[in-house]
Amino acid sequence: MKKIGVLTSGGDAPGMNAAIRAVVRKAVHENIEVVGILKGYNGMVNGDFIPMEAASVSGILKEGGTILKSARSDVFRTPEGRATAYENLKREGIDGLVVIGGDGTFTGASIFGHEYDFPVIGIPGTIDNDLFGTDLTIGYDTALNTVAEAVDKIRDTATSHSRLFFIEVMGRDAGFIALNAGVACGAEVVLLPEKRTSFDELKEFLQKKYSYSKSSSIVLVAEGEKLGKTIDIADRIGKEHPEYDVRVTILGHLQRGGSPTVTDRVLASELGVAAVDALLTNKRDVMVGIVNGEIVHVPLSQAIKDEKPINSRLLNLINVISG
Ligand code: F6P
Repeated sequence: MKKIGVLTSGGDAPGMNAAIRAVVRKAVHENIEVVGILKGYNGMVNGDFIPMEAASVSGILKEGGTILKSARSDVFRTPEGRATAYENLKREGIDGLVVIGGDGTFTGASIFGHEYDFPVIGIPGTIDNDLFGTDLTIGYDTALNTVAEAVDKIRDTATSHSRLFFIEVMGRDAGFIALNAGVACGAEVVLLPEKRTSFDELKEFLQKKYSYSKSSSIVLVAEGEKLGKTIDIADRIGKEHPEYDVRVTILGHLQRGGSPTVTDRVLASELGVAAVDALLTNKRDVMVGIVNGEIVHVPLSQAIKDEKPINSRLLNLINVISG
């Protein structure tokens, strides 16, 4: 392996820069050339490559976003797009790839790797934490802390007015942010895609927790939750219970920004180095992850498809201790 490419793809996540830095510095340490590929797979298709050296990644460890930019590429979903991408990699002399992203990124990586027998290693980078085979994904811890800070602030005003707040957090298909922030912020109820809650159950919870205490209540809703859109759920509750003072906040993309936490910086640094090590030891088509403090290699297909279970202990705990 003489020259590798690195890219970030899909939704950005705090800590992606720390991962890029680790990949570049480790490659330089091993006398391997590194090329940054801009805007995810679009950069592979368009030949948008920049040479990187140790100094190219100075000062980015603490920065949110990704210096390589990111995208969700439609053209890379087509065989023609991937053929052009392969030609570009060959022309540039790149013989291994590190891709940093989530399930969409890994799906593209796996298809491309098999189609062209090309060594690709995935680094889990998504705030959703929804990849199987790693305890944490890069960006998740920072997003959780961002959500906790926002929810704490909303709690102040909710309590002053004795209001019921529905707060929507990210997590397209996964409730990790909602569940863990729910515990951290003392949410009265959490709604998750992994655990169906009926409208009647929700009303019953609120009856017990909100109307009884006459103080504030917070329902944390994962955006992928199955009961309906947060705004519609809140609207229906407000109509059926005019005595409740209901408000809605959608935290949105603010959850994806900001300087990464120490946990994310360390995780990203470890995984960046592990990804280059994986290429050097002829691994391919795997994600590098960390389980119980140990580096693991998980087939990309498994990381995407196998379900990462939510912690049902935490869910039960919310019901017991949330007042
Ligand atoms: O996958 C990360 C994520 O932030 C999801 O939680 C969210 O559903 C999605 O990306 C939003 O994507 P976009 O930034 O393309 O709107």
